Amino acid sequence: MTSSVGRLDTEDLTSRVQAMYREVALHPEQGFHFETGRPLAERLGYDPSQLDRIPAPAIDSFAGVGYFLDLAAIEAGETVLDLGSGSGMDSLLAAVATGPGGAVIGVDMTPEQLAKATRLAAGAGLANVAFREGRIEAPPVDPGSVDCVVSNGVINLAPDKGAVFTAAAAALRPGGRLALADIVTENELPAGVTCNASLWASCIGGAMQQGRHLEAIERAGFEILEVRANERYRFLSDQAVNASREYGVKSVSLLATRRGA
Ligand SMILES: C[S@@+](CC[C@H](N)C(=O)[O-])C[C@H]1O[C@@H](n2cnc3c(N)ncnc32)[C@H](O)[C@@H]1O
Repeated sequence: MTSSVGRLDTEDLTSRVQAMYREVALHPEQGFHFETGRPLAERLGYDPSQLDRIPAPAIDSFAGVGYFLDLAAIEAGETVLDLGSGSGMDSLLAAVATGPGGAVIGVDMTPEQLAKATRLAAGAGLANVAFREGRIEAPPVDPGSVDCVVSNGVINLAPDKGAVFTAAAAALRPGGRLALADIVTENELPAGVTCNASLWASCIGGAMQQGRHLEAIERAGFEILEVRANERYRFLSDQAVNASREYGVKSVSLLATRRGA
């Protein structure tokens, strides 16, 4: 069923996002309008010695926008949910952090990303991570079963961000953490940008104004503990660079806890 937010065709958006990230999974070397891979991960702050502990193809297809695992501070034995897990880089790093006594569930809607992440986890002998097909607006996990929800570069792609934050809160136990990196804007984007599914799929059109982004997280039941700008995230295409200048499009990392502990 096609629904729309403003005049955005959400069915068209889903197809475009899946088509783009199918390529990121299958042909990460081809080059995109956004950066990918190990050079990006290291520049954003990922520890090279940690990256060496997971399969390289997961890092090749990394398409995140910031580092936040220090904020997540995942402990051994915890259960982690990765919303929009892609080819699995953050999920696999989280699986190393939780150890065999913990569990990581990666959720994504692009079959090729799920297949790649699943294959890499099995090849690495990481039995404590599983990848499930689903939408981040309604991830397939039991309510209150998760200690930490993470997400990297994904929520800007979701038309209903309130639903994503509400779903994250529902998945978490009281006191559980939400640690994410995402694209936000300083100024509201005009309708010409927000209703363009192509710009949206490029991680620009769906970016929420930062104040409203924080309000949406709080409204879902979180207390925000830390927000920091990812100064080292760069936009590549002229369109993205121009939007970044004009509307203050930028990457942030954030830590929040679910109220009610
Ligand atoms: C920018 S990539 C980031 C992937 C991964 N987090 C990383 O850092 O490499 C976005 C991913 O989110 C997935 N995605 C986007 N919108 C989604 C939604 N509504 N539900 C589930 N997955 C979604 C895409 O399939 C894609 O794999």
